[in-house]
Amino acid sequence: MSKRRVMRTLAAMLVVAIAWGCTPKLDPDRPWSQDELQLIESLSPLPKPHASPGNRFADDPRAAALGHKLFFDKRMSSNGKVACQTCHTPGRYFTDGKVLAKGVGTTGRHAPTVVGSQWSPFQFWDGRKDSLWSQALGPIESDVEHDFTRAGVVHHLAKHYRAEYEAIFGKLPAMKPAKRYPKRARPHRFNDAHPDHKAWMAMAPVDRVGVNRAFANFGKAIEAYERKLLPRPAPFDAYVAALKAGDARGGGHLSDDARRGLRAFVGRAQCINCHNGPLLTDRGFHNIGLPKTKGKSGIDMGRTDGADEVKKDPFSCGGAFSDQKVCDELRFLDPRFEDFLGAFKTPTLRNVEKTGPYMHGGQFQTLAEVMTFYKTLPTKPQIGHRDLVLKQIDPEVPSSELIAFLKTLTGPLPPAKWLSAPAGGK
Ligand code: HEC
Ligand code: HEC
Repeated sequence: MSKRRVMRTLAAMLVVAIAWGCTPKLDPDRPWSQDELQLIESLSPLPKPHASPGNRFADDPRAAALGHKLFFDKRMSSNGKVACQTCHTPGRYFTDGKVLAKGVGTTGRHAPTVVGSQWSPFQFWDGRKDSLWSQALGPIESDVEHDFTRAGVVHHLAKHYRAEYEAIFGKLPAMKPAKRYPKRARPHRFNDAHPDHKAWMAMAPVDRVGVNRAFANFGKAIEAYERKLLPRPAPFDAYVAALKAGDARGGGHLSDDARRGLRAFVGRAQCINCHNGPLLTDRGFHNIGLPKTKGKSGIDMGRTDGADEVKKDPFSCGGAFSDQKVCDELRFLDPRFEDFLGAFKTPTLRNVEKTGPYMHGGQFQTLAEVMTFYKTLPTKPQIGHRDLVLKQIDPEVPSSELIAFLKTLTGPLPPAKWLSAPAGGK
């Protein structure tokens, strides 16, 4: 720096110091500009719960109570050891701490949190489901997750939850005799020769519809429970609330480092281009050009496959089992859209400190590794092209400051009553 520049900087600092006089220090560097304030205020408070038009039981407390039990019930798995909570463990903000999730086998993706997922129009990293209730049907029939079947689920409901189920959703199918309703039956996603698939195809069409309806209701009960798993206000929210109330110090809720990180997040580092709104996600899909998922064969096409699957899904918002009849969002969805190739859903950054490893393939163990990735963008996308919105961030932005900011997004876990298996649950 030239001598003159140093003098000018010092003079500028003096002006700021005089302007703010003896009031507490506003910011380690300078106060927020109007533009920055506007961006910061767009990130808080947390929104009100979203409606779920495809599920008319979404806010029925009886459905939430049943869903709560089902989420923890390990008996709906081929080895009797896997429940939703195996990979979405409450104490870990409903994640599992693993690189790739493990159920009956090992999956090809990392388990995201369920906390706050109710605001996502599309579920899974590739968005192959368009509601929480239809999402819940997927892991049950995945060979490497529960390795169970829809017929098995309905048998299980009939045996253990009949009264509770029927009080909410009406009559369950008879599920007898055994010949008419096999123990295991499902359409297999990839393998027509699978015995479960053959058993499913051998069932009478009317019985298949009955099983599908009850299976959809199983998902609806789970969604009603998941809707209770909301992110709760974090120090960052307290900071923004204080700013909005006119306290320029934001109640002192953010450290100097966290405020510098926040400044970079909404400014130089441009994170807010994709991680925006109170959940810190644009709910869109982007190819950020990550290294390949370790241990997964082939290339992960991401949203290209996800968009294709959701359009074909009989449990989507316009399907026979949805309570919503008009479903425009899928009508205009085109899987051939070029930017979908290798793109994955922007995850929420709420509680991100607690939900590592990170990314769809658990590519990074720590937030520091994530920051290094954004600073260096070392890898070429495996397929497609890296999103043009994503620019390598200025290496002078300290990772520690961005991380200090991200940690202010950690709120308490959802209320304790939802965090363990309910009384009478298995
Ligand atoms: C074997 C581990 C495992 C089990 C068991 C499991 N999940 Fe998951 N879950 C995952 C993985 C991995 C993903 C991401 C998969 C993908 O994107 O392809 C996921 C994604 C999700 C999502 C989407 C979140 C988002 O932001 O897109 C929800 C919701 C969810 N699971 C709920 C459930 C429910 C409900 C059950 C029980 C019926 C369940 N999971 C069982 C591993 C598991
Ligand atoms: C072009 C949009 C875009 C921009 C800009 C962007 N991100 Fe991301 N971010 C994503 C997407 C998409 C993912 C998930 C990618 C995947 O798994 O394939 C992600 C993942 C993450 C994760 C991992 C979260 C998890 O739960 O796995 C963190 C942390 C993160 N971003 C922070 C940041 C920060 C900090 C910045 C600014 C330096 C930033 N992002 C800029 C789109 C973006």
